[in-house]
Amino acid sequence: MCGIIGYVGKSDRALNIVIDGLKALEYRGYDSAGIAFIKNNKTQIIKEKGKIKNLENKINFNLKTNLGIGHTRWATHGEPNLKNSHPHKVGKITLVHNGIIENYEELKEILKNYNYKFISDTDTEVACALIDKLYQEKNDLVKVLSKVSNLIKGSYAFGIICDDELDTIYATRKDSPLIVAIDDQDYYIASDIPAILKYTNKYMLLDDYDIVKMSHNNITIYNNKLEIEKKKNYTFSGNIEAAEKNGYEHFMLKEINEQSTVIKETMFPYLDDGINGLIDKMPDFSKYNEFDIVSCGSAYHTGLVAKTLIENYTNIPVNVEIASEYRYKKLFFNKKKLIILVSQSGETADTLASLRIAKEHNMDTLAIVNVVGSSIAREANEVLYIKAGCEIAVATTKAYLAQIAMFALIALKIGISRQTIDENELNEITQDIRRLPLLIDEILKNDYKNLAKKIFKQNDIFFIGRGIDYAVAMEGSLKLKEISYIHSEAYAAGELKHGTISLIKDKTPVIAIVTDMNIAPKTISNIREVKARGANVILLTTIKLDDNYDFINYKIVVPSIHPIIQSILTVIPLQLLAYEVAKLRNCDIDKPRNLAKSVTVE
Ligand code: F6R
Repeated sequence: MCGIIGYVGKSDRALNIVIDGLKALEYRGYDSAGIAFIKNNKTQIIKEKGKIKNLENKINFNLKTNLGIGHTRWATHGEPNLKNSHPHKVGKITLVHNGIIENYEELKEILKNYNYKFISDTDTEVACALIDKLYQEKNDLVKVLSKVSNLIKGSYAFGIICDDELDTIYATRKDSPLIVAIDDQDYYIASDIPAILKYTNKYMLLDDYDIVKMSHNNITIYNNKLEIEKKKNYTFSGNIEAAEKNGYEHFMLKEINEQSTVIKETMFPYLDDGINGLIDKMPDFSKYNEFDIVSCGSAYHTGLVAKTLIENYTNIPVNVEIASEYRYKKLFFNKKKLIILVSQSGETADTLASLRIAKEHNMDTLAIVNVVGSSIAREANEVLYIKAGCEIAVATTKAYLAQIAMFALIALKIGISRQTIDENELNEITQDIRRLPLLIDEILKNDYKNLAKKIFKQNDIFFIGRGIDYAVAMEGSLKLKEISYIHSEAYAAGELKHGTISLIKDKTPVIAIVTDMNIAPKTISNIREVKARGANVILLTTIKLDDNYDFINYKIVVPSIHPIIQSILTVIPLQLLAYEVAKLRNCDIDKPRNLAKSVTVE
């Protein structure tokens, strides 16, 4: 989604700072970019369609200026063209915006009565006009921005320059992320940490309705028109390399290769002090007899894996829900149910809204989140942080893996408490968890280029599996389609013949996942069904294959490990295969078209 950066301070290289920030926010997804800065005591705006490089070509970097705001736009209202790009300027107000103003049409009609004319199709231009109108009345932007929050419905993070105060940036937020950073007398606002990392790793999180006023040597943060004395300071513990490619061709490949470390950092601290350590470090789940897991996209797929783990190892029933559905459906709450929100970014609008609904009903909530201090992490009653580190590629890999790891630990903790996992099994599992990083690195050594070459020209690729393998198939299919643009679907293996099998024709790739030995013979029968219709079968399995498997065209074998953590290994070849296929198709792997890393709008 849109990215915002703003700088005011000692340096006269604000243009470079803002462009550096925008480049670091590219991963969020965008289709145009723009900046506003001060030149000859006037606000100057430059914007361009497409990549930041196009924008850079229009900027004279010799110009010295101490203040600038920048924006990458991910189109919501109106096409991705020049007139809809940010910054927008109406009257004295120049604005960049991330979020969606839901009542913009209504506000637009009101503002037209005051002779405001609109040249873009955006909700942002309407917000800009509204701020200008109120500024004409009140002449004080702090008061204006606190009033705006009562008039606007929807979500926003704003960065603002006012023609009457050309040495000052104003900013505020509601339901869209925004951080503030202070380094000596340099002040920044940004949608996310990577945007400022080249310059500082110290930052503060803004709360909803906070208003920031920052000028050359001063910063004040207000809430409810009152100055806030103190805000908690955070230090980003990773270094800038965490947000760089480290020699890998793409962030996605780098992040796939970080997965053994991610598993160590996410899981090992819970095992260091034996069973008691695990029990003490995890929340107490003893009062719950049902879970709702609520999330979107890959995090929803994590929930599907988690359902099998928790149900199989603890006997607690789990409902897995897509957040954008959950927030509008009839919900059945009771005090013995825990609502678990899963989100890498911690800012996904639908997941955040679901969390708030659960809290309105006084339900207990637990967040499983990667980004420290994100909205979901802050608002949930309890948070368990996965330790995936900074994930830049739009398509998630290491965060998905770490989420599964966290659910395996949760299942383990509850299983021990409920005595559904005995001591022998627990020992076996902990030994296997300790082996995981090594096994992950072994899998990462395999080359999937040859297999990718066999399938990258296909129009349709199917994934099948049963039980937990079906959940992993869904993630494999999403990974492939989102970065390679090949149509793909995942099916419960037994369901294929109820319709979709009619799409299987000669050479259609079907990637079948078989790691659950209890139902392996059933999936094998389904594989034979698609084979009989001409499918090109790729089997991803833990089974050592013998001659009886001559109906398989290509096989990928992953090590067999305790089922509670098997999916952690199974998904990795699918991530790598998707990567190699997308590469052969010359796709923009880290920033697939139309996608955004942090989906902060509904
Ligand atoms: C797919 C992907 C998305 C996210 C989804 C939720 O590769 O990354 O499907 O999983 O947008 O995002 P978070 O986890 O940030 O809530």
